[in-house]
Amino acid sequence: MAPRGRLIALEGIDGCGKSTQAGALAAALGARLTHEPGATPVGALLRRLLLAPDSPAPSPRTEALLMAADRAEHVAQVVEPALAAGDWVVTDRYSASTIAYQGYGRGLDPAGLGALVTWAAAGLAADLSVLVDVTVEVATARLAAGGRGGADRMERLGPGFATRVRQGFLAQAAEDPAHWLVVDGSADVETVAAHIVASVRERFGDASAPGR
Ligand code: TYD
Repeated sequence: MAPRGRLIALEGIDGCGKSTQAGALAAALGARLTHEPGATPVGALLRRLLLAPDSPAPSPRTEALLMAADRAEHVAQVVEPALAAGDWVVTDRYSASTIAYQGYGRGLDPAGLGALVTWAAAGLAADLSVLVDVTVEVATARLAAGGRGGADRMERLGPGFATRVRQGFLAQAAEDPAHWLVVDGSADVETVAAHIVASVRERFGDASAPGR
């Protein structure tokens, strides 16, 4: 039986570049690339409900529960089966996003959310969370330059919200440095990618060699 795979989450505020970095890391590791919210059929419906600007806005606790529901489905259908089969998984966002966005951003108690996200993920924590950290100014400029046609509901909340979310990620990383890697995301894409890959290999050793 193949040894169980590892779960690595890429985290950060909107516009930080983590989706690009998640793709680069997954390719370098030969890992399965996935994302939240919306990576399952149920999740795709939840994502639309949660993020489409024309969907009715849920209250903060409802938003947290729907994010947790998306994660429960993602873990059950995608992440856990892949890890059990011995694959490594790189996910573009995981539990830390709920603590940062619904906790620090929306103002819900982060400790209460911690219990919710642990339950939703059936206790499955990321082996490593990589925070691609940029200032809100850099992220805002990248989103504006990206021309991705219409910001989603979170991206419309403005710099005050994004500042709280960034603080939420930095606080989680500071509380649990053994499970976090914080990288400066303001450098060019290749430099950031090389740094993340080297740090992951250093942390997990030869098992993170490509070609798995
Ligand atoms: P993401 O897919 O990274 O955005 P994009 O497709 O625009 O690159 O994330 C979608 C949004 O969902 C993002 O604003 C963060 C938010 N989100 C939460 O608020 N809580 C969560 O638990 C997760 C997973 C995402």
